[in-house]
Amino acid sequence: MITVKPERLNLREYDLADLPDSNVLDLIPGTLIGRHIRFFNVLDSTNLYASKLAHQGMPEGTVVIADCQTKGRGRLNRVWQSPPGRNLYTSVVLRPSVEPSIAPQLTLAAGVAVADVLSRYCEKPATLKWPNDVQIGGKKICGILTEMRTSGASVDYIIVGIGINLNMRKNEFHEDFREISTSVREETHNDVSRVQFAADLYSSFERVYETYRLEGFEPIREAWLDYARIVGKNIRVNQPDEIRKGTVRGIDEYGALLIFDDEKNMKRILSGDVSLLGDETCC
Ligand code: BTN
Repeated sequence: MITVKPERLNLREYDLADLPDSNVLDLIPGTLIGRHIRFFNVLDSTNLYASKLAHQGMPEGTVVIADCQTKGRGRLNRVWQSPPGRNLYTSVVLRPSVEPSIAPQLTLAAGVAVADVLSRYCEKPATLKWPNDVQIGGKKICGILTEMRTSGASVDYIIVGIGINLNMRKNEFHEDFREISTSVREETHNDVSRVQFAADLYSSFERVYETYRLEGFEPIREAWLDYARIVGKNIRVNQPDEIRKGTVRGIDEYGALLIFDDEKNMKRILSGDVSLLGDETCC
């Protein structure tokens, strides 16, 4: 492995398209997240590969990154469009000492880390949409897919998969998503270095994860709610078997969305697609 002092690196000189299938990305500095990096030109899914590595015992902080994915996966078995030369597809191995039931906290933490970085790249504010989307101007720019393996009552590892649209042009999005998706390029009219963005993301995630380990979920919840600006809003949640409507009260420590529904009962929403019912705030 090549060792170069981080301060001597100008990461802007590199982009994935210029990199051979090698460990050159080991040059990205980082004490935890990104300390082991595996880069591939093509993978089925970085989440699947990261799970294999975690299963083989690779340590916390290992990241997998691919130029393109042939089976990029989204939530609810959806496909994640993953063409080459455009975006960032990466998965991070975490081994937190937490109970499996609170693992969704890590999805929210990753969302905060992504929103922190995007806020530095884009003029419009980044917003978080429960449970795992990051948006700019109401359009999706990033999705997060968290998967977990447990051993008995504890977490063996968690894979946090992050897909961020960086240099995707509007006409390259699948027509079903074209009007509801965006990319950093669409927002800034400039191409962004994927390696620089990855380095920024890993250090942002490391900062948020460190806060989580030292101070627990509360600061993450606050940051998440700040980015989501959803408390007090009236929403509709589409679930496979029903549609719920209500006013958002917050999120609990299990990552569930808390809504006060039309029958005036507090409900915990654990899955589904959320949409706003307008900007009106409620009691
Ligand atoms: C979603 O919005 O439904 C989540 C999308 C997550 C996509 C990322 S891309 C990197 C990682 N590998 C995958 O197969 N999926 C995640």
